[in-house]
Amino acid sequence: MRHDLNPPRDGRLVSRAACALIAIGCLGLFSGCTTETRYRWLSTFFDGVPPPGGFTNAPPLVDDEGFPMSLIAPAVTNVPVTVRPPYVSHPPYADRECTSCHESKFSNKLAGSQRTVCFSCHDDFLENMAVKHLPAEDSECTACHAPHGSPEPHMTTRPLATLCTECHDGPSSGAVSQHKPYASANCLACHSPHASAEAKLLRQPAGELCLSCHKTVLPEGQVLHSPAESGECLTCHQPHESDQPKLAKLPVPAMCFECHDNFLENAAFKHGPAESGECFSCHNPHASVEKHLLIRPGRELCTECHDAADMDAVPAHQRQGERLCWDCHDPHASDQEKLLKTPPATGAQP
Ligand code: HEC
Ligand code: HEC
Ligand code: HEC
Ligand code: HEC
Ligand code: HEC
Ligand code: HEC
Ligand code: HEC
Ligand code: HEC
Ligand code: HEC
Ligand code: HEC
Ligand code: HEC
Repeated sequence: MRHDLNPPRDGRLVSRAACALIAIGCLGLFSGCTTETRYRWLSTFFDGVPPPGGFTNAPPLVDDEGFPMSLIAPAVTNVPVTVRPPYVSHPPYADRECTSCHESKFSNKLAGSQRTVCFSCHDDFLENMAVKHLPAEDSECTACHAPHGSPEPHMTTRPLATLCTECHDGPSSGAVSQHKPYASANCLACHSPHASAEAKLLRQPAGELCLSCHKTVLPEGQVLHSPAESGECLTCHQPHESDQPKLAKLPVPAMCFECHDNFLENAAFKHGPAESGECFSCHNPHASVEKHLLIRPGRELCTECHDAADMDAVPAHQRQGERLCWDCHDPHASDQEKLLKTPPATGAQP
């Protein structure tokens, strides 16, 4: 029987220590033998040995040539073996092509840098890439990949949930808002692990990346807010988490006044909702079917809060006709009372 590289996972726990001792003993005993004899003897030893189900993730102690895989026996515990995804062997390892990576069959020294060795079979995905992830560029493929095989997808050393946060900060507990894919450690939804044409290893240019999931943010046929239209989502949003709601980079309205004149700063009279930063009670930050990114048409915008009947009763409103409320009033702030755009004499007489 061949000592299975991928031991079945449902087997009983056997004493790993005992196996380790057998393995070490064999090595000592047969250190002068040829590979073939070692293999025969070990096969004899391992014949009849129950499947070493307890090994799960651990590399086999010896391969079927008796080559030492690891001389350190994993700790023996009574914890039952839980169901894991199947262990996937790296094909050149399973096919015993040790020397496709190692200097010789008898040395675990690599034949070259990891980049040289790995890219002798795999396409060099770093070549011609503008942005390279430092551990990949530095030939530390094994910071993320188990070179012989692994029970994780893509032969990673750890589950994807902790692959990146081993070196980078992960989601923090104090954030006011947290992006769902970040909170669930789905870093790969946005980043490439190796290299990219985009800054910060993004899989696509930032705006396209955001819109690939948020398809409804910029509906076709609407008036779009210029920075959103040009894909500058990151001028207003954090990609991971924020101390503001909705992943906002800055509090509103400070965020808006990064680009727009601060009309509140020096005005004598300020409109309640503008002063309190409720810009979104009138504007959509991204797009609208209305002019000026307004969320409701015409007077409805104002009569949402100011009772329509009350407004009709204002003497100065009697001859307003079809004029918009903001033909006479500044919706944000003014140096005139009642937020009038021009002094009452003109404002009141259309
Ligand atoms: C795809 C390339 C590749 C193949 C094929 C390969 N290895 Fe390795 N092996 C590695 C790398 C990479 C390391 C880690 C080296 C390092 O960290 O410097 C390693 C490490 C080892 C080690 C050190 C202990 C350990 O597990 O980390 C041993 C022993 C070893 N390999 C044996 C083998 C044997 C035996 C074979 C053939 C059955 C084999 N390897 C096939 C790439 C390979
Ligand atoms: C002798 C050729 C060979 C060498 C050298 C080699 N690989 Fe592979 N590798 C393969 C083959 C064949 C496959 C399976 C087919 C595939 O997925 O491309 C594979 C698969 C993989 C996969 C799994 C792909 C997936 O998505 O499941 C990873 C990861 C990987 N190799 C990483 C490495 C790393 C890291 C090294 C260097 C330490 C390396 N390979 C060296 C031949 C090689
Ligand atoms: C920071 C972690 C990390 C490092 C470092 C890393 N990889 Fe990967 N690799 C991954 C992840 C995660 C995947 C899964 C595929 C994906 O989502 O792009 C992957 C996929 C792969 C694949 C299969 C899919 C493909 O893109 O062809 C190969 C082959 C591979 N890596 C080889 C390497 C080699 C060679 C190196 C070193 C030069 C390396 N990796 C360094 C994390 C890493
Ligand atoms: C072994 C440690 C390590 C692991 C694991 C790791 N990284 Fe990195 N990462 C680094 C280092 C080092 C840098 C470079 C830091 C710097 O330049 O300040 C970096 C940089 C980055 C950058 C910024 C790149 C740039 O151009 O500014 C991103 C994005 C990134 N990593 C994402 C990831 C993701 C996603 C994963 C998981 C797939 C991951 N990292 C796993 C070490 C790691
Ligand atoms: C929704 C997409 C998205 C997800 C998910 C995501 N990131 Fe990012 N990440 C970005 C964007 C966009 C940037 C660039 C930010 C910028 O340029 O201001 C970035 C930047 C980074 C940087 C560079 C930081 C810096 O200041 O240079 C690192 C490191 C990083 N991300 C790691 C991670 C890790 C680790 C995860 C998973 C826990 C993750 N990212 C999940 C989109 C994402
Ligand atoms: C992989 C898909 C994906 C990508 C890419 C993505 N997002 Fe998200 N985003 C989500 C999901 C899922 C939610 C949560 C939606 C929900 O709860 O209804 C979300 C929520 C948000 C929210 C609301 C957060 C809150 O607290 O309510 C904002 C803002 C946001 N994303 C902005 C962005 C930006 C900016 C980008 C580009 C850097 C981006 N998203 C890229 C999936 C994505
Ligand atoms: C001018 C600043 C700005 C730009 C540019 C911007 N956003 Fe926003 N976005 C906001 C603000 C502010 C909110 C919160 C609005 C609120 O509280 O009602 C928001 C909310 C969101 C939400 C959550 C919507 C909801 O109803 O919960 C998503 C998703 C989102 N933005 C995605 C994007 C994407 C994708 C882009 C790029 C195409 C983008 N944003 C560009 C300012 C901006
Ligand atoms: C990154 C810069 C930037 C930020 C931040 C920004 N804007 Fe804009 N905004 C623009 C540009 C550029 C235009 C188009 C030029 C113009 O009409 O002034 C515009 C246009 C507008 C318009 C439409 C003007 C019109 O008459 O059609 C409104 C309304 C608006 N922005 C509101 C906001 C609000 C509310 C915020 C904060 C949530 C904000 N903007 C944040 C750059 C920005
Ligand atoms: C009560 C509704 C309302 C509120 C609240 C409001 N706006 Fe407006 N906003 C309007 C209307 C109506 C217009 C068109 C005004 C005009 O033509 O005089 C406008 C126009 C704009 C414009 C483009 C014209 C200009 O003045 O540059 C910007 C930028 C703008 N608003 C930003 C903001 C910001 C930032 C906030 C939050 C501090 C805000 N608005 C709050 C109703 C409102
Ligand atoms: C989100 C609710 C809301 C919306 C929408 C709104 N307002 Fe107001 N408005 C207020 C509040 C609150 C006050 C301050 C309390 C008050 O004086 O009644 C105010 C005050 C005013 C005043 C000053 C009243 C005075 O006595 O000084 C005028 C004028 C005004 N609004 C006009 C408008 C116009 C024009 C619109 C539409 C562009 C509008 N409002 C939309 C809530 C709103
Ligand atoms: C033709 C110009 C004009 C138009 C159009 C107009 N207003 Fe006025 N509004 C005025 C003037 C002038 C006053 C000041 C009257 C006064 O001081 O007695 C005023 C007063 C107000 C007041 C304060 C009322 C009070 O009792 O003190 C509010 C609120 C108001 N307008 C909201 C609106 C809304 C909402 C609209 C749209 C439905 C609107 N206005 C349309 C000119 C106009």
